[in-house]
Amino acid sequence: MVQRTLKYYYTKARKEGWALPQFNFSCAEQLQGIIEAGVHLKAPLLLGTSEGDSRFLGKTQAVALVESYRKDTRLPIFLNFDHGKSFESVKEAIEAGYDAVHFDGSAFLFKENIAIARKVVALARKNRISVVEGEFSEIPGKHSSFHKGEAPLLSKDSFTDPAQAREFVRKTGVDSLAVLIGTVHGIYKKNPNLDLERLQEIKKHVMSFLVLHGGSGTPPRDLLAAVKTGVVKVNISTELRAAFTNTLRETLKKEPDEIAPYNIFVPSVRAVQKAAERHIQFLGSANKI
Ligand code: G3H
Ligand code: ZN
Repeated sequence: MVQRTLKYYYTKARKEGWALPQFNFSCAEQLQGIIEAGVHLKAPLLLGTSEGDSRFLGKTQAVALVESYRKDTRLPIFLNFDHGKSFESVKEAIEAGYDAVHFDGSAFLFKENIAIARKVVALARKNRISVVEGEFSEIPGKHSSFHKGEAPLLSKDSFTDPAQAREFVRKTGVDSLAVLIGTVHGIYKKNPNLDLERLQEIKKHVMSFLVLHGGSGTPPRDLLAAVKTGVVKVNISTELRAAFTNTLRETLKKEPDEIAPYNIFVPSVRAVQKAAERHIQFLGSANKI
């Protein structure tokens, strides 16, 4: 059987009006919950590790774990290196065997970002990477902790400019573009509203796939409206971290004498599975293998 690529699923999603959630993980137990969600709902899975996640887990180890689940479950499972901030870190991910990479050059000047992204695309093409994601408008916020405060202040001036998006995609050759239209990293009291008109404009200007970051805490109806406007992937990290860690805290409180990891982690694995299933259901990737 021909192995379908991530690009195949992006194309299918765009045509049919659904999106793939990208679930980030930093330990084997979080991954277990995500895989169980995919198996249960027969969903193609896109997994991600950020620089922090993969520093803890190891890039080679992340690739090997994902490969082992791919063999066991026979599901289409893809691993994306998320927010690689330098050419070197993205190169390491490509060499370790990731299926897709995201070069986040938003901290660079626009021109420098384009030059590095072009190099990433050239390297990726030689290494059978199906999707290279680019970014030039930084997505604000934090997903390293569970915030209940106010969302970062966003000015519409910082949102992705459609003409710049066209120039970026044309000059770099990236397959997908992370756009800033109002989603932010993390969970807050109230996440900002999405600028769907801006998204519509960007869509008119670029041929590449459009993807959203900061899926956690964004109301499903907002994300779905973005998907109906052409977004094919939504990144989710904070919600899975919160599900895992908050459940672990409760388990340790309830069972102070339990020491076996295979008992302690079970409720956390289930909590991650539940959170992942919720996203798969509303983004519409269930039964799409
Ligand atoms: O790159 C990862 C994400 O954009 C996740 O954002 O933590 O708000 O779900 P989130
Ligand atoms: Zn992100």
